[in-house]
Amino acid sequence: MAETQEKQSRGQFLATFGIFFISIVLFAKNIFAYIFPAKKEKTYHKYLVAKVGEIPVGKAKKITISKKPAFVVHLEDGYKVFSSVCTHLGCIVRWEENKNRFYCPCHQGVFSTTGEIVSGPPPRALDKYEVKMERNLVFIIVEDKMEGPWA
Ligand code: FES
Repeated sequence: MAETQEKQSRGQFLATFGIFFISIVLFAKNIFAYIFPAKKEKTYHKYLVAKVGEIPVGKAKKITISKKPAFVVHLEDGYKVFSSVCTHLGCIVRWEENKNRFYCPCHQGVFSTTGEIVSGPPPRALDKYEVKMERNLVFIIVEDKMEGPWA
């Protein structure tokens, strides 16, 4: 009788210890996964933003990318796509074709045709999008997490 109770309590101890050990291992695994998350490959998508010939040289077309305004600008050296959101405080810049520049009216921020800062308080250049030309069409390449020009 005592031997049976001893076997039972040893079995209970082993079962409890086993559950405790498995819990510790799973907890440690989750902590590790939280601290060092697995890196996911970024995926990309291309969106049509203009047709060649649609925008004369020196002019810009307004589009929306992920619900934020952007410009497709046709320059002498091709098409460029920039975010219209000023890098200073987020005002919307405008394309000034007569001065060949982007201008932010909020604090007189000026950006060049390459989106670089010319003057004013903006801390960095305008965000650019990768442009790809295919069969007389202008596409931008964006991460899949972003919504397209028509969202
Ligand atoms: Fe554009 Fe300040 S928000 S210059």
